[in-house]
Amino acid sequence: MGAIEVRKMTGGCGAEVLGVDIASPSNSDMEAIRAAYRDYGVIFFRDQKLTPEEHIAFARRWGDIDINKFFPANGQYPEIAEVRKEKEQKVNIGGGWHTDHSYDAEPAMGSILVARELPEEGGDTLFADMYKAYEALSDGLKKTLEGMRAVHSNAHVFGTAGAYKSSDQAGGFKGESLTGEAVHPVVVTHPLSGRKALYVNSAFTTHFEGWNWFESKALLDYLYAHASRPEFTCRFQWREGSVAFWDNRATWHYAVNDYHGEKRLMHRITIAGCPLQ
Ligand code: SIN
Repeated sequence: MGAIEVRKMTGGCGAEVLGVDIASPSNSDMEAIRAAYRDYGVIFFRDQKLTPEEHIAFARRWGDIDINKFFPANGQYPEIAEVRKEKEQKVNIGGGWHTDHSYDAEPAMGSILVARELPEEGGDTLFADMYKAYEALSDGLKKTLEGMRAVHSNAHVFGTAGAYKSSDQAGGFKGESLTGEAVHPVVVTHPLSGRKALYVNSAFTTHFEGWNWFESKALLDYLYAHASRPEFTCRFQWREGSVAFWDNRATWHYAVNDYHGEKRLMHRITIAGCPLQ
């Protein structure tokens, strides 16, 4: 393959990385991919022909694999979580703004999603840039958020009475007894880029430490509306061979559920992260 080209998706978020085969990246390819990942928060590859083994091998180049406790696993490869919606199902996985594993004490660094079966139309994924969301806040609100911490929990999503277990996705989900929570700063300094990012999300953040639920909700709702403004986002249209690699500390994502009656199957590998400061 020739030289790598990094093409910005929108003014707000993401870039396509063209001219690389991620099944066998050279050291200099890896450098260029690392820089794009650091600078854009989410990067996209096209026309890849990754086998599950190559998907796992590419993920291992970034760190240890963080096996998801709740998602349906691919029977043959425990490292691969399946993001699946069958023709008959109405609820999809990840159909709201979130970032993966924020309920863990060491939230996952990134996730690599490979398209396996796509609907004729639809099933796009939206991404939002949490650096830009933070940077666009007023100095006053930045100062207020600076010392604050927020609780992130998953019982309401993956627990026995949680969103998936009470939906038509119930059969695939597991680990209801493994739910838990973690506390993180509301503004994190990104371990790779050194930039500040907003680190709350509507799926898993329940409240601010030391604030009650009602008080927290008012400010969280403001932050969610702010951070999902179109100018911080991009929309990725999947094709056969597409791969997305996002940074869970710098972006949110949202799987659009607009393809009822068709199947969509994605393979996701999540890479282990570190405590956030
Ligand atoms: C996810 O939320 O991890 C899945 C995103 C998608 O299926 O587009």
